[in-house]
Amino acid sequence: MSEKKALIELRDVAKHYKKGDEVVKAVDGINQEIPTTGMVAIVGPSGSGKSTLLHMIGAMDRPTRGEVRVAGKVLNGLPERELTRFRRETVGFVFQTFNLIPNLTALENVMLPLEFNRVPKPERIRRASSLLERLGLGQRLKHRPNELSGGEMQRVAIARALANNPPLILADEPTGNLDSQAGRTIYELLKGISGERTVVVVTHAEPLAQMADRILHIRDGRLEDHP
Ligand SMILES: Nc1ncnc2c1ncn2[C@@H]1O[C@H](COP(=O)(O)OP(=O)(O)OP(=O)(O)O)[C@@H](O)[C@H]1O
Ligand SMILES: [Mg+2]
Repeated sequence: MSEKKALIELRDVAKHYKKGDEVVKAVDGINQEIPTTGMVAIVGPSGSGKSTLLHMIGAMDRPTRGEVRVAGKVLNGLPERELTRFRRETVGFVFQTFNLIPNLTALENVMLPLEFNRVPKPERIRRASSLLERLGLGQRLKHRPNELSGGEMQRVAIARALANNPPLILADEPTGNLDSQAGRTIYELLKGISGERTVVVVTHAEPLAQMADRILHIRDGRLEDHP
């Protein structure tokens, strides 16, 4: 056991896909503990299983073998209702393509997950604007996504992921559509918020991965011991 209590415990986690006679071993037996604070980067070649692993940690996908435990809950065994609740309360997702709702303003995008958690409107406005201000977007509250730069859209997406103050943020190539300067800003933000929660980020950008407290190298669905 690690000294710090783990937020995420992966025990022999695997995801195999059957395609006719062939089996694709997207993830193939991963054991890992990830502590309750700090930033972990997952790096590896295309097709190595990074997104698949992230989806299983975020309960967007179920493993075919092994156990995924997050915040004391074994996800494998949970019914769909509980998984929905887990995703809403425990995880904030950040995507490569931002996935903001185009006809809502920055403020409304960040307010939305608070509405799912039945937070009253004045409190939603207060929390969403304070998050956006913290991420340097105080002057952009009323902008719609098409009135924002890529880096700004991703900052709105991070604010949205933080709205319900989850202990875990999962980001799948959050800087894949950004230039290196905007990418660095996003990593600095992710690093900044990892002081009080776990941030797991999948990336191809090795220099950005170096900012993480820990780098997990993955190849052919397995962790590499000596990258
Ligand atoms: N639904 C599926 N059915 C069958 N095979 C799949 C499915 N999803 C993923 N795979 C396969 O599993 C492997 C891992 O995919 P994954 O998306 O996790 O890779 P990745 O490391 O995120 O790659 P990239 O860096 O390109 O995003 C790939 O070989 C992929 O083709
Ligand atoms: Mg991927």
